Amino acid sequence: MATFTRVPLVFSTSTLPPATASSKPLNRHCHKCNCVASASPLTRKVPECSSLSFLNTRSSFSSQIPSLSARQNKGFRRTAAVLASMADLSTVLVTGAGGRTGQIVYKKLKEGSDQFVARGLVRTPESKETIGGADDVFVGDIRDSATLVPAMQGVDALVILTSAVPKMKPGFDPTKGERPEFYFEDGAYPEQVDWIGQKNQIDVAKEAGVKQIVLVGSMGGTNPNHPLNSLGNGNILVWKRKAEQYLADSGVPYTIIRAGGLQDREGGIRELLVGKDDELLQTETKTIARPDVAEVCIQALKFEDAKFKAFDLASKPEGVGTPTKDFKALFSQITTRF
Ligand SMILES: NC(=O)c1ccc[n+]([C@@H]2O[C@H](COP(=O)([O-])OP(=O)(O)OC[C@H]3O[C@@H](n4cnc5c(N)ncnc54)[C@H](OP(=O)(O)O)[C@@H]3O)[C@@H](O)[C@H]2O)c1
Repeated sequence: MATFTRVPLVFSTSTLPPATASSKPLNRHCHKCNCVASASPLTRKVPECSSLSFLNTRSSFSSQIPSLSARQNKGFRRTAAVLASMADLSTVLVTGAGGRTGQIVYKKLKEGSDQFVARGLVRTPESKETIGGADDVFVGDIRDSATLVPAMQGVDALVILTSAVPKMKPGFDPTKGERPEFYFEDGAYPEQVDWIGQKNQIDVAKEAGVKQIVLVGSMGGTNPNHPLNSLGNGNILVWKRKAEQYLADSGVPYTIIRAGGLQDREGGIRELLVGKDDELLQTETKTIARPDVAEVCIQALKFEDAKFKAFDLASKPEGVGTPTKDFKALFSQITTRF
């Protein structure tokens, strides 16, 4: 798994008194969140603090306390190992966490708590409730940078799953052979959401020191005349592509996933296909299940091979080929940076 450098050691080791059975409880001070919590000198149990990170602890902890008994030393080493593994946890923010794919990514991050500390960003308190209302879900509007800052603090990786969503005009009659018409609400055009909104996220993330950004875009961006661009006069693929380019030029390690048509189907049961320059659109395999896109987002956080890459993503139909399990191999196939 790719690991992320976090803030330096947060406990004041200088406040650690020599440990004896009669020592008073230790006061441990987390400089990052400013909390102080007691720890038994025998168990060295640490306070719960989501913002803790403990780099360089493996070797340094026990060497600082030579007077520990063998039993105490063993317990302390065990705690040090736990702290060190906490340092490997990566805090990941998924935006659009109330959306159809964003929800799945948020859930997968929560399920992967041995590797990730999950955070979500949603647009409204209602969306927050929809995904469980936990404290790790922030409410913000990607068109307003200031509202993104709290969610982005201390984040190692960002997964962008926001998108402008076209609405269908009411009153069309399919029985008369009419085609539905679409529109975007004022202020929610692709230019505002997919360009300005994504640019804001990239800028705030960069400022906050985020070390990887995974962006889910869409296939079709190589063709300015793609039919999706005429939807609601939004030029949605044009603006998405502009944001992708901005990310690729940002200097932040990135993974751009250009998904094919998204389907609400079971994931993990199809062979995934990666491609470039919309070539997959010329084939029969140009769709993908949302849970598969979500899984590729998660896997992209784990492998260096996924960084500085942009690719199209689709899948073979169920029952054809072999379901993809080796994501390192999948990412190594990709040679395109944009
Ligand atoms: N649909 C497809 O077939 C298809 C194909 C290829 C690629 N993609 C791409 O795949 C990604 C995921 O698609 P999806 O269909 O799963 O997404 P989705 O359900 O449409 O979710 C989009 C999310 O963006 C959020 N959002 C919109 N404006 C926002 C704002 N101003 N501030 C904060 N959040 C905002 C929405 O929040 P609210 O719900 O609160 O508005 C929603 O949760 C998108 O980038 C999409 O373009 C889709």
